[in-house]
Amino acid sequence: MAQTPQAKYRKDYTPPSHTISSIDLVFDLYDNNTKVTAVSKVTQLEQDNVLHLDGEHLKLTSIEVNEEKWTRFEQVEGGIVISGLPQEFELKVVTEIDPEANTALEGLYKSGGAFCTQCEAEGFRRITYYLDRPDVLAKYTTKVIADKTQYPYLLSNGNRIAEGVLENGRHWVQWQDPHPKPAYLFALVAGDFDVLRDKYVTKSGRNVELEIFVDKGNLDRASHAMTSLINSMKWDEERFDLEYDLDIYMIVAVDFFNMGAMENKGLNIFNSKFVLANEQTATDTDYLGIEAVIGHEYFHNWTGNRVTCRDWFQLSLKEGLTVFRDQEFSSDLGSRAVNRINNVRIIRGPQFAEDASPMSHPIRPEKVIEMNNFYTLTVYEKGSEVIRMMHTLLGEEAFQKGMKLYFQRHDGTAATCEDFVAAMEDASGVDLKQFRLWYSQSGTPTVSIESEYNSEKQTYSLVVSQSTEATHDQQDKQPLHIPLDIELYTNNGQVIELQCNGVRVGNILNVTEEKQTFVFENVTENPIPSLLRDFSAPVILEYDYSDDELAFLMTQAKNDFSRWDAGQTLLAKYIRSNVTAVQGNKDITLPPSLIDAFRGVLLSETLEPALIAEVMTLPSHNEVSGWYNRVDVDAIAKVLKAIKVKLANALEDEFSSLYHTLQQAQYSITHQAIGMRSLRNTALSYLAYTDNGNQLINSQYFSANNMTDTIAAMSSANSAQLECRETLMADYSEKWKHDGLVMDKWFALQGSNPADNALEVIKSTMDHESFSLKNPNRIRNLIGSFLNMNPVQFHAKSGEGYLFAGKILKELNTSNPQVASRLIDPLLKFRKYDETRQSMIKVELEKLRAMDNLANDLFEKVSKALDS
Ligand code: TRP
Ligand code: ZN
Repeated sequence: MAQTPQAKYRKDYTPPSHTISSIDLVFDLYDNNTKVTAVSKVTQLEQDNVLHLDGEHLKLTSIEVNEEKWTRFEQVEGGIVISGLPQEFELKVVTEIDPEANTALEGLYKSGGAFCTQCEAEGFRRITYYLDRPDVLAKYTTKVIADKTQYPYLLSNGNRIAEGVLENGRHWVQWQDPHPKPAYLFALVAGDFDVLRDKYVTKSGRNVELEIFVDKGNLDRASHAMTSLINSMKWDEERFDLEYDLDIYMIVAVDFFNMGAMENKGLNIFNSKFVLANEQTATDTDYLGIEAVIGHEYFHNWTGNRVTCRDWFQLSLKEGLTVFRDQEFSSDLGSRAVNRINNVRIIRGPQFAEDASPMSHPIRPEKVIEMNNFYTLTVYEKGSEVIRMMHTLLGEEAFQKGMKLYFQRHDGTAATCEDFVAAMEDASGVDLKQFRLWYSQSGTPTVSIESEYNSEKQTYSLVVSQSTEATHDQQDKQPLHIPLDIELYTNNGQVIELQCNGVRVGNILNVTEEKQTFVFENVTENPIPSLLRDFSAPVILEYDYSDDELAFLMTQAKNDFSRWDAGQTLLAKYIRSNVTAVQGNKDITLPPSLIDAFRGVLLSETLEPALIAEVMTLPSHNEVSGWYNRVDVDAIAKVLKAIKVKLANALEDEFSSLYHTLQQAQYSITHQAIGMRSLRNTALSYLAYTDNGNQLINSQYFSANNMTDTIAAMSSANSAQLECRETLMADYSEKWKHDGLVMDKWFALQGSNPADNALEVIKSTMDHESFSLKNPNRIRNLIGSFLNMNPVQFHAKSGEGYLFAGKILKELNTSNPQVASRLIDPLLKFRKYDETRQSMIKVELEKLRAMDNLANDLFEKVSKALDS
């Protein structure tokens, strides 16, 4: 290592030394030497007349202060220090950058034939020397100059104010954004596109031009994104009373992008995965993902852009809140229960795993080396759960009052998580003092409940205990304020009114102590409790349910989520007991009552098909692994497969009849149609393990009129290793090899191929004409799937999987450290595996640590993993 990277601490925050009221940018775009001229109006805030500007990978051409050449500056690691400055001045900085060589996809880079930018979190410093921190808000004017034929569209934030033509075939457009913003929300795009246009009239009558820019030839894949955008704008007006604030809203889809999408003011830049869809190229899951991400970026306009973050430790202020808003959007438009189930799967699976890993951190981190490493499930998804808990405690009406007060106080400024909680507290009168601990305490709390029925007194007691295990980042844990949503049922399924101390109480219990007893009166029989309804807090629930109680809840609970959750709990009991059985060389068994409970769900006439599909979906290998401190990869895989086969054979008739009756002649993307396809394809995933599987799946593939059914067939053929797998894979590749985005689904199947020769095939797949190690989507689908979705092959005893991962990581460390840093996560958890595997993974981490050009992104994770 040249220099050990330094950590930054939340507690060390200090306000900026200077403020910048406006910046005027000129980009003279060329592939290898783009000239950037930045003229800023700067005012000194502190005594110091020294200005430290951030800058990386820049070639400095000149600095002028008040139009005079300035020499009193020094180039330092990560920037420049300019001294001898007046109180107020105009600063002109000219830099040169090389967009084509920028494979990290941060700052200004080329994606295919187009120029584009990605500035969050700290990418603007790769464009010019600047105060690249979110609490410096300036008004931007941006002039973009480029070749007219190659780059007919020149875009930036705000409104187009001027344009012109130059000699040499070049032209220019100038943009002005009236809303002050931090540098991370800056964006620029130059390219040749097809444009889908529409209009939206806000509720107060503002006319907004909507434009979606896609690669030429892709116009027929942009309409779902446009519909989703219009739905988002309308929903935010109706549910949050928030309107759009510019005359134009642009979205550009690019193929090379490190994340999902970016909320740059008025000019969102999207991974094309979250824009492009038609029924031939995209699955239902893709359609729903587009709706969610378009919503997410649009909702950032208020929660993120109008009110931004004071510093990056506050990231959850905008991300947790905006995820909460996009989840509510999807739930209001589609099935609330199915959305909740899928969000809860993410928390209980990968988010709980992150809490247990060397990277554990609170939703508001205390210590950061590389900010890009903190765009995590904890900050985003657990952050959203924390907002959701406040919503549960306050109720919709008081929560909306809190939002109003938050905007009243902080619109146009950079705020903190504390500001948000204070607004919620002040608007509602609900005490959130203890609740604030959710922001500073990391880890997953366990809530253990015991119940006791007293038939004489007719009382029912719940004894609730909570504790949080120490995490890698934090030893001491305190009791949290946990909203616990419950319902009690009589044995014939009636809801029992909750009464405490003589008064009727609501369903939300306020758990605040280490151990607490809740006594309910007038309970005339020993009830069946439904606990942690809707997953009212991100905790592990422990309660000793009998199989009968769970089977009861699966059919009788009033709330769809609870019915699903009871099914998952029942499965969990038998997954655990069978893992133990396998480890003791005993047979895998399931009680007939369990099979009957699932049969009951399959035959239900009241449950919506989408929900039945969720109930029938087993927890993933990853989720199950999270239940153990020491993971037995092979035993878990064996048990999950055996349960699938047993259910398939026992319920073949039911699956088969659903499969045939749920067939739809026409494809449509209504939520009802999606739900029916989801159940039908879930049935198919079981039927794959029956005698008819191969024939059924082969014929679904060749008769499918939409991508959802195509991929469902291929994915079942892959999991069950059916004979037709090779034929289907070959046919698909022949059909789609020209289209990387569509091929990603195929790459993901190669990555997750459970066959023993999977790694060999993956290595040769890297030579496929549509694969490239430069494209993050390709990497994630082929290599990411192997590391994350193929436990048995990745963790093969030979160690070949680890060796392969190490090699790829080494390469990506140089070309794209952000992508490398996401890919490495499964290796950080090496302590969960047996000694042999542990030491083989450690060897790979040690090799990375020894590299002399290790990027901060990997340095932070590797050193945490090895040193903990
Ligand atoms: N703010 C973006 C979002 O959540 C996240 C994002 C997009 C991002 N691209 C990034 C974060 C690159 C870090 C680096 O919508
Ligand atoms: Zn976001």
